[in-house]
Formats: sequence, C-alpha cells, structure tokens
Amino acid sequence: MRFEGVRFRYGSGVEAVRGVSLGVETGERVAIVGQNGAGKSTLVRHLNGICQPSAGTVFVADVPTTGRPIAELAASVGYVFQNPDEQLFASTVAADVEFGPRNLGCSPELARSRALAALETVGLASEAASHPLHLSLSERKRVALAAVLAMHTPVVVLDEPTTGQDARGIAMVAGVVWSLANAGRTVIAITHDMDFAAENFDRVVVMADGQVLADGAPAAVFGDPEVLAQAAVEPPQLVRLAARLGWSGRPLTVEQFVDEFADRR
Ligand SMILES: Nc1ncnc2c1ncn2[C@@H]1O[C@H](COP(=O)(O)OP(=O)(O)OP(=O)(O)O)[C@@H](O)[C@H]1O
Ligand SMILES: [Mg+2]
Repeated sequence: MRFEGVRFRYGSGVEAVRGVSLGVETGERVAIVGQNGAGKSTLVRHLNGICQPSAGTVFVADVPTTGRPIAELAASVGYVFQNPDEQLFASTVAADVEFGPRNLGCSPELARSRALAALETVGLASEAASHPLHLSLSERKRVALAAVLAMHTPVVVLDEPTTGQDARGIAMVAGVVWSLANAGRTVIAITHDMDFAAENFDRVVVMADGQVLADGAPAAVFGDPEVLAQAAVEPPQLVRLAARLGWSGRPLTVEQFVDEFADRR
C-alpha cells in the first residue's frame, strides 16, 4: 500500500491529512501514534475507500483507490472502527460477524464457521446470539474486531484496538496482531498505548497535525524525545526508565530490559 502526497479535507473545512507519503509492505506490523486529532483515523480510512483523497493518491495492492468502490476495497483491507457503534448494525452478534464473509461471497455455512472461529478468538463465542447493544463497550469493540477477522483480508487495520480492554483483552489483541503477521498478513494499528506499540510492532509512524513526523523502527522512534514531545506522545515506560538510568539502549520489552540489566551487572 502507498500514500503519495495525500491530503484530505472534511466538508467542515478541517484539513485532517496534510501531505502524507508513506509505503507499507506486505506482512509489516505498523503502529500509528500521535495526539488526538492528529489525523490517524482519517488517514487509514483511505485504505478501504471510506475517505477519498482531496489531493494525492492512495494505492492498495499497487492500484489507486480512486473510483474503486468500498465493497471492492473491503475484500483487501479490513478496517476495525475506533467506535464499534459506527460499525455494528445487526440484531445479533453472529449476524454482525457473518455479514463481512457473506458479503465477500462465502456460503452461509462457511460464513457461520468463520464467524464462530473469529468470536472464539476474541473470547465471545458464548455471545453469538446476543444483541450487540446488550454487550459492554469493550465487548462491542471485540465483536467489531471479530467481524473483520472473519473476512480473512490480507490487510487488517485496527483503530485503537486496546482502548477499554483489560489485561486479558490487550493480550488477546496482541495475540491477534502476531497471528495475522505470522500468516503473512499486513497489520496497521492506531494506538495511544505506547507499551503495546513498542512490544508488538516492527515500525512506528508518528503523526501530528495531519503530517508524519517520524517513521522507523520502534527503538529509533521511541528514542527520539524531541519528535515525541512535538507529537505529544510519551515514550513507553521501559524507554523512559532506561533513559532515566542513563542507559544508551532503548529496551522495548521486559525481556530486553532484563537482558540489558543482566549485562550491566
Ligand atoms: N467526520 C468528520 N467531520 C469533520 N471533521 C472531522 C471528522 N472526523 C474527524 N474530523 C476532524 O479531523 C481531524 C483529524 O481527526 P481524526 O479522527 O482523523 O484524528 P485521530 O488522530 O484519529 O484522533 P483520535 O486519537 O482522537 O482518534 C480532527 O480535527 C477532527 O476533529
Ligand atoms: Mg482516531
């Protein structure tokens, strides 16, 4: 996928994306971080055609999205909405999760089995017959995730997937990221959780004010306090701790921190 000089202006006049150029290779795990209103959601909504650029071009599988219907792009890019209530619409959880695969042409039986497998993954198989509005917000977020997983798209975009999730929910989302990546699929996640970004992604893109401020390996990006301050992003806890201890390395996981600690002793 590729963004080339992309700008996007809402009807209200707000220019949410102001000249973004960025490529994502198949199989990458990319975290997009940045303060509220930085334009992160608006940017990723170009990947399945919900937003069409006001200027510049977005390529999905090397073909411009211009003029391609959302229904076609949705077969390539699954987008899990930041707010599940903008995504879910059916009167049962199962119907919501089956909708995507049914739309892609799966038989009712196949759609049902994919939906149940996706609900198992997010820990909600027992709620298949429930009305989504009878679930909590954190559960509805997991239904929205299952609805995209059931589509088996080569690209999965997660918009703040860990918000409101407890430790088990965050671990589940991390497991999903890794299992998608291990299957060779591309994962892009927007997140405000820098520990989650540091531990689970191989690239971090920092956005501020509709533009990309930094883009690189997590250790490099999270080791650049000036850029992070400009984007109002606080580095992951372990990076802050290592900096306070005067270490030159930037450990991103507990394991890396413990290794560095052992070496220093
Ligand atoms: N539907 C809309 N209509 C008009 N303006 C919008 C709309 N959605 C977002 N905006 C504006 O566009 C800018 C970027 O918003 P966007 O939702 O893309 O940011 P974000 O980085 O995802 O923020 P957050 O972390 O709060 O989700 C903001 O100024 C926002 O108010
Ligand atoms: Mg957003």
